[in-house]
Amino acid sequence: MTTDRRTVGFNFLEEPELPAPQVSEEQAEQILREHYGLQVRANSLGSQQDRNFTVVAADGSVVGVLKIANPAFNATELQAQDLAADRIAVAEPGLRVAVPLPNVAGEKCTTVTGLVDGPAYVRLLRYLPGGTLLRSGYIAPTSVAGLGEVAGRVSRALAGFTHPGLDRILQWDLRHGADVVAELISHVRHDADRTALETAARQAWTRIAQLADDLPRQAVHLDLTDANLVRGGAHVDGVIDFGDLTDSWAVAELAITASCVLGHAGSDPTSVLPAIRAFNDIRPLSNSEAEAVWPLLVLRTAVLIVSGAQQAALDPDNDYLAEQAAGELRMFEQATSVPMDVMTEVIKADLGLGRAPEVVEVATPLVDAAAVTLDLSTTSDAYDDGNWLTTDFEDAQARAAVADGAELVVTVYGQPRLNRAPRLSQDSPDVVPTGVGMWPAADMDLLAPWDGDVVDASAEAITLRGGGVELTLAGVRAMASGGVRAGETLARAAAQRWAHVSVRPVGAPVAPLFTTAELAPGWLALTRDPRPLLGLGPTEVTATSDLLTRRDASFAQVQEHYYRTPPQIERGWRNYLLSTRGRCYLDMVNNVTVLGHAHPRVAAAAARQLRKLNTNSRFNYEAVVEFSERLAATLPDPLDTVFLVNSGSEASDLAIRLATAATGRRDVVAVREAYHGWTYGTDAVSTSIADNPNALATRPEWVHTVESPNSFRGKYRGAEAVRYADDAVRQIEELIAAGRAPAGFICESVYGNAGGMALPDGYLQRVYAAVRAGGGLAISDEVQVGYGRLGEWFWGFLQQDAVPDIVSIAKSTGNGYPLGAVITSREVADRFASQGYFFSSTGGSPLSCAIGLTVLDVLDEEALQQNASRVGAHLKAGLQGLQQRHPIIGTVHGIGLYLGVEMVRDAQTLEPATEETAAICDRMLELGVIIQPTGDHLNILKTKPPLCIDVEGADFYVDTLDRVLTEGF
Ligand SMILES: Cc1ncc(COP(=O)(O)O)c(C=O)c1O
Repeated sequence: MTTDRRTVGFNFLEEPELPAPQVSEEQAEQILREHYGLQVRANSLGSQQDRNFTVVAADGSVVGVLKIANPAFNATELQAQDLAADRIAVAEPGLRVAVPLPNVAGEKCTTVTGLVDGPAYVRLLRYLPGGTLLRSGYIAPTSVAGLGEVAGRVSRALAGFTHPGLDRILQWDLRHGADVVAELISHVRHDADRTALETAARQAWTRIAQLADDLPRQAVHLDLTDANLVRGGAHVDGVIDFGDLTDSWAVAELAITASCVLGHAGSDPTSVLPAIRAFNDIRPLSNSEAEAVWPLLVLRTAVLIVSGAQQAALDPDNDYLAEQAAGELRMFEQATSVPMDVMTEVIKADLGLGRAPEVVEVATPLVDAAAVTLDLSTTSDAYDDGNWLTTDFEDAQARAAVADGAELVVTVYGQPRLNRAPRLSQDSPDVVPTGVGMWPAADMDLLAPWDGDVVDASAEAITLRGGGVELTLAGVRAMASGGVRAGETLARAAAQRWAHVSVRPVGAPVAPLFTTAELAPGWLALTRDPRPLLGLGPTEVTATSDLLTRRDASFAQVQEHYYRTPPQIERGWRNYLLSTRGRCYLDMVNNVTVLGHAHPRVAAAAARQLRKLNTNSRFNYEAVVEFSERLAATLPDPLDTVFLVNSGSEASDLAIRLATAATGRRDVVAVREAYHGWTYGTDAVSTSIADNPNALATRPEWVHTVESPNSFRGKYRGAEAVRYADDAVRQIEELIAAGRAPAGFICESVYGNAGGMALPDGYLQRVYAAVRAGGGLAISDEVQVGYGRLGEWFWGFLQQDAVPDIVSIAKSTGNGYPLGAVITSREVADRFASQGYFFSSTGGSPLSCAIGLTVLDVLDEEALQQNASRVGAHLKAGLQGLQQRHPIIGTVHGIGLYLGVEMVRDAQTLEPATEETAAICDRMLELGVIIQPTGDHLNILKTKPPLCIDVEGADFYVDTLDRVLTEGF
């Protein structure tokens, strides 16, 4: 770049040091009095080039920001900035803009003499409350998108704005970035840092220079970062500080905004994608602009570091600069952690600007053998009973294929491999292969597919360049050197060992054998599918992104899904869930699968039974008898008679019908904030507003609700909570006295909807007694809390030392297979005869019962109730430890493996941290944990994993939550 340009305005390259003007708070207050007619206080703000003050009125409110420009900037430049701010404010009314406010003479810029050498230009700017994201730790993708959106809007508003005051050379203008790095690099102390910065800047500049002629220019703010975008609620909507306004490449605006994301905890290069996407939605990027974003971003981070080093040299005792330097170093490290061309391809693919993969041409196939493809995707049938957890899984699969007669076994390019994912990892794993593995049955010669030159050969690898690409064979014996003709032997692959084949265009960076799902679009664009070399068709790329669209088109919208952009889960194992992108998640939410996902005993029992018989329970077969006997045996007397249905809703619905039939009454008492199911009857007694916001207002007249016995945030708290029973008893007695004695009282024996909170001591004994005194029956809904989850007790009502008349169960009973049951006394069951006979087609089928029996067997054999007790206590202690350090945790409810981490904004008011809990769940997902909110305020992490979870899994959950609460969410 040449630097001998004359500019109307400032030229950094001629004047690289700009100390801020020395103006005192008293002088600032005097200016405000004289020129703005304001009797206010001025508080000095730290700033680099200008001198800024917050202007505070007598009542403490901030009324503006007083800015005394550095004398290096002239009036024309300042006028351009003021006009730009006004222009954005008009064009984008949704944005708040720090526009200049008029002085007593109606002017936006005040010229003050005697303050500095020459005239001082002073402006009073609109103050935007809300604060910036500068000190936030982690920034969530939606907030990152918010940054890009505002940058896009500013860019759109400034397009076409021209002014002589834009003609300046600023150190932040990336058109001069390479010169700035060269000018200031000497301030960087360490040799290695200097080399890294110079290399990165040079590589970036090489790419930018090639694109420069195609990059449109316009007025740009050039500093739309976390320091200058102001929050309005959850997202940024305010723009301040137009001091760097200049004329430059429009795309530099975006690169600078995106770069700031990398200074925040938890970010990696792909974290900037939401900002780029959002910018592109408002101000579409050309192909050249998309290719320039990442090099510009890298250059920006280098400029920040050399500029920071210069500032530190000028002001060595400034702690703020040292703190800032740490963030800037992180930005640079992240920006250079992935090859520039890879990130460019990732960006292009994300914007839909990627090219279709090129298919390599082949003159002679690499092998003279028929290849068999090994499917190692998440959905592959190769996985069975956790066999993929073994280290030699891939070898074993290949060996098995060879035993079946395969001459050559090959893997699939670009296909995420589930077996490569660590079980517990906060990082996205390297699961996507950038080439293929090849396992020959016998020693096999590999032939040159084209004429070419061997450019690299070692004991274990060889690279052939030809036809515009480089073919690398690794794990082979090189057999050639120099020029090679198509069909000549290149290397020999040993029998029953993996050899790796990868192909890349000449000049592309060397790809790692495996990369992450996030970086895969970049690496796959810079490599080629080697399968055509093996005589196979290229890998079919199936788009998975449209699954949600198809779901929305065919599935009722009221059937919500977890997460805004959920991973596609197609496999489970124990307490893990596995996505098609090859990520293994810790499942902290699935109470239905008590034994764990895909339990082989359940699968085997189901398969065996399905091959024999599946019919309805009116036939005479043993399983239904045995399962009923086994269920009844888990319950105290007189609960000895079983009905089998398909779900919790059906079970609780039938429980209500049994009570009404047995008593000949129709009124039912239920606890507020509970959920019992979706059927007409269970929905009537469900008043959880998280499930139905209108629940309380729409109860049928036969439903009577009592206060929810929430001892944490309800009407009575702590020791007072025993009074819930007083109130409930009084209400029931009033009903009886009014001639509406209830048929029954239904509640969960542990308060599930509140995150597993125990009922107040003695609650069930007293309420059951009151209902029974009026001739009614007590129903315990054990759908969530029963079946061993509480650890100490198999059934929740045992914790209360009370015995109900009717118990409803489901979920765990079938480990996810639809199986529910109602257990009551013979007497109550017999009185149901008034309703005709009872029958459910698949309730209690041979298949349901075979599964139900297996679940009971495995619960026992694997001692899962004891595990719930042991791991649950460990988990609860870990969560309580977090509570000591993170005030957002109000309390940890529950026992065993039914826990609830309740999030509050304030320990005194207990204001529910609802939005925070949603954000925490989203961040936990990114870090490999599936957890969801529950409770009427959706502010409780419902912690109820499969009962097979181990201490390692529990610790991972606690550690990950700790990280999220520490870093931000
Ligand atoms: C306490 C309780 N009862 C009943 C049900 C309904 O069970 P299902 O979804 O199997 O119909 C649920 C479901 O979440 C529940 O939590």
